[in-house]
Parts: sequence; structure tokens; C-alpha cells
Amino acid sequence: MDVPVSEDDSFGIEVILTEGETKAPSCPHGPTLLFEKLSKGEERGRRFYACSACRDRKDCNFFQWQDEKVSEARLLARQAENQARRPAFTHQQYCSRFKKFVSLLEDDKKFCQDCQMLFLPGELNAHASHKSRAISVAQLRKPSVLLCPLENKKSNAQYLFTDRSAHFLLNTLAGNGYSKVLCVGTPRLQELIKMRNLDGKHETMKSLLLDIDFRYAQFYGQDEFCHYNMFNHHFFEGEASSAVLQAFLSESDGKKVVMVADPPFGGLVKPLASSFSLISQMWRKLQSPDSRSMDMPMIWIFPYYFESRILECLPSLIMLDYQVDYDNHPLYKHGKTGRKQSPVRLFTNIPPGEVILPEEEGYRFCSICRRYVWSLNKHCAECNICPSKDGREWKHCSVCEKCVKPSWKHCQSCGRCALPNHPCGQGQGMEGCLNCGSVKHKYKACPLKDAHRTSKCQSSNAKREGRNPSHHPFLNPRAKRKSGAARKAKKTAAVST
Ligand SMILES: C[S@@+](CC[C@H](N)C(=O)[O-])C[C@H]1O[C@@H](n2cnc3c(N)ncnc32)[C@H](O)[C@@H]1O
Ligand SMILES: [Zn+2]
Ligand SMILES: [Zn+2]
Ligand SMILES: [Zn+2]
Ligand SMILES: [Zn+2]
Ligand SMILES: [Zn+2]
Ligand SMILES: [Zn+2]
Ligand SMILES: [Zn+2]
Repeated sequence: MDVPVSEDDSFGIEVILTEGETKAPSCPHGPTLLFEKLSKGEERGRRFYACSACRDRKDCNFFQWQDEKVSEARLLARQAENQARRPAFTHQQYCSRFKKFVSLLEDDKKFCQDCQMLFLPGELNAHASHKSRAISVAQLRKPSVLLCPLENKKSNAQYLFTDRSAHFLLNTLAGNGYSKVLCVGTPRLQELIKMRNLDGKHETMKSLLLDIDFRYAQFYGQDEFCHYNMFNHHFFEGEASSAVLQAFLSESDGKKVVMVADPPFGGLVKPLASSFSLISQMWRKLQSPDSRSMDMPMIWIFPYYFESRILECLPSLIMLDYQVDYDNHPLYKHGKTGRKQSPVRLFTNIPPGEVILPEEEGYRFCSICRRYVWSLNKHCAECNICPSKDGREWKHCSVCEKCVKPSWKHCQSCGRCALPNHPCGQGQGMEGCLNCGSVKHKYKACPLKDAHRTSKCQSSNAKREGRNPSHHPFLNPRAKRKSGAARKAKKTAAVST
């Protein structure tokens, strides 16, 4: 059977990371990224600038061809728009408001649910017709519970750790002697660290939250939070914030630093990796000369199907079997609850043997691989690894000489394993489709992918929640399309093959 490749599969979008050659124009989210639109048969596509952070044009519609002349009027309008979308207060102002707020009587401590802000008695009129609630000191310590998650916004996709996952992360870090945690897009982890410090039973840990959600500036001091965009390493409050990061990364106090990042899953891997490398470089420069060849310890939390993309960009990371789950994500729950298993994993440069995965949750230690693995991830004597990526038990194919997904069968004509109903064909030397194993097409063009998307109701759930991870709407500047990895994200959210 011949499978027609649909038109939009014939081109793709690449992000081009330039090293400060020309200054990229800015949108409200800081410097934009340069993309290249590749069309079939063309060697070099047309390049354009678009927002680094938003994957939906409704959130940020910045678009400019690289070779486009922009009129003075449009530049001014852009500046005005960027200005208008700044937070209502500077971080310093938020801090002095917070000081006043904590000194208020219990009855005067109010949070406006419509504006998502703490307000002072003098501002009562402005929020009179809004929904507001009284706030206790205990609630002030848990802003991630108080603030409503920005989950409908594709660009934020705020999925908060369950207690199980947050405690696991914290215990792992503390157990490995880290006492300064750089929380990149992990507000709940920062919160837990601060709560743990309060109990007085442990050695104090420091944390610094870098997040694009400036609502957190209301609750944290300037040395605890920086308004930051992890797709372009942009600090919205400029030099002052990057100095805060710099100070935090210094280990002169003898405290070990680790970074934990949990970016929105539709995010582009390359720019994220680039920002994390910049942070790591900053850390390295602060190390003594004899440890300047080391990498900053980090954990990047992301779905397993991005493994090859992540390792391409940051080869020192290793993917662990631990399944991260989220409170407000119905699909990404831990397997043991009887729900769908979460596809979200830890990518880390901490030696895998030192990350002890809990036995009571179904993990075990593989003494050959010297790492903890999921119970169904059985060690294969032939491959000499625990091969499973998706939590299911994989099986060895003696012809392919490797382990494959349990649903795949060896196909004589393709000469490799694939889904039984994959489109069959000879595609010598071509890496097969990640979804069905066919050698006739790449993942992007897989005709079986959509079959899975509609086969379960989960995908419509994903849509309802706004978890459409399409991360670049500019395949065609006028139309909204999805990229390969984004489709894959959506597909795996629906069902794993
Ligand atoms: C998937 S959630 C992770 C939350 C984490 N699981 C927790 O419970 O602490 C993504 C986080 O990254 C933040 N975020 C989204 N886009 C960002 C960006 N471009 N730069 C920095 N932070 C971003 C969100 O505000 C959110 O806190
Ligand atoms: Zn933008
Ligand atoms: Zn209000
Ligand atoms: Zn093993
Ligand atoms: Zn094997
Ligand atoms: Zn095979
Ligand atoms: Zn075949
Ligand atoms: Zn396929």
C-alpha cells in the first residue's frame, strides 16, 4: 500500500539558534527566536522571528520575516504592546506590598480570585465587584495552591506535582547532599523546600524559583524568585535578576547546587537545552579552576519520547524510569493508581545509581545496569540493558537484535519490527517510524498516529484542558499547524503504541 504524504508533512520548522549575530526583535516575552520554514525540495527555507514562549497565536502573535523591513510605526506599536503587557508592579513593589500584607490583621488579608492578587485594604474598592477570599498565613506559604493553574493557556501548561512526586524529588536531592535548589518552572518544589525548612528538623535548604508566571513575585523576595523565560534565557527584570542567579549559583558557602526544571511539555527542546547550558556555564565559571570541567548537576523533567532529542542536545543526561505525576493532569498519573501511566521522566546527570527509586511504588535496582528501573522493565540478557522506555515490558527480537515494544511484530518485508498494521515497504538505510515502525515514512507522516488519537477519549480530554501542545503555529503564517514532536506529545497523551 502506498501512503500519500499530506502536504503539511512535507515541510517542517527548525529553530535556528544564532550566537548574538543579529539582535532578535522582542515580543512581550523577551527576544524572539529565529525559525526556518523548510519546504520540500528547498535547501534553505525562509526564516522568521516568532515568540519563544507561546505556542498559541492567541497568547502572542509576534511574527516577522527575517528579511522584512519593519516600519517605524510598527516598531512603536510593538514597544507599546510590550510595555502594556508588563506586570502591574515591579518585583520590588510586590515585595513591599507583601511586607504590608503580612502585618495586616487576619480579617484584612484578602486575595482577589479574579485578579489573582493579594490586595491591601486601601484597594478594596477596585476589587469590590470581584470574587475575593480571606487568606491565612498557612495559605500564603502555598501560592501554588492559591493561584489557579494557568493550564488553559497553552503557553504555560502549569501542571503541579503530586505530593508523592514533589517529596520524592526533595528527598532525592537532600539525600544526595544538595542544599541549594534552582527551581526552573517548579514552584511547588520551591514551596515544599520552604515548608521543610520551617519544621526545623532538617538542615536548611535554599531555593530560587525562575518562572515566567510573575504572580509568584507577590509571595517571594527578590532573592527567591526571578521572572524568567526559559526558552530564551531572558530575565524580565534584567541585570539585577541575572545577578541574583549568579549569586545563587556560587558554592562559596560550601553548599551544593542542583537545578530542577519542569518545562511545559510542548516546549522546544533545543532552546530549552540552550538556556540550561547557559545556566550551567554560569555555574561552571564560579567553580574553582580544578572543577571547571564539571557539569552543573541537573534534573530536566520531560516526557520519555523526547529522549533522543534531549540527549542530542545534552549528551551527559540519562533518562531514569521514575514516573512523575501531576495533581491537575488527569492523564499523567502514576501507574499504580490504576490510571494511565505518566510518560514524564527525569533526565539527569546525577549518577543514576544515586537516584533511589521507591521499591514500594514498583521500582527495583538492576545490579547490571546499576540503576533503579520500573518493575516491568526486565533486564534483557542479549541487549544487556533494561530496555523499556514506556513502562511496559518490552521483548527481544532476535532478528533485529534488540528489544522492541510489546505490540510490535517482526516484518519480513521491512526487515524490522513494527506494528502489525504498519504501512509496509522497503526503505533501506532509513530509520523507521517511531510510532508504527514502518520504514516508508517518518513519524510526522505516520498514517496510524491519528487512528490512535481518536481511538480513546483521552485526546479530547487533553483538548478540553487546553493541552494542545502544538508549539509552533507558523508552518504557514496564517494557519495554525502542529509540529512532529508536538503531535507525538499529543499522541502519547492519548495512548501509547
Ligand atoms: C509543567 S509546569 C511545572 C510545575 C511543576 N510541576 C511544579 O509542580 O512545581 C511548567 C512551569 O513552568 C512555567 N513556565 C511555563 N512557560 C515558561 C517559560 N517560558 N519560562 C519559564 N517558566 C515557564 C509555568 O509557569 C509552570 O510553573
Ligand atoms: Zn511572545
Ligand atoms: Zn480583583
Ligand atoms: Zn538492567
Ligand atoms: Zn533485548
Ligand atoms: Zn524484529
Ligand atoms: Zn513491513
Ligand atoms: Zn508510522
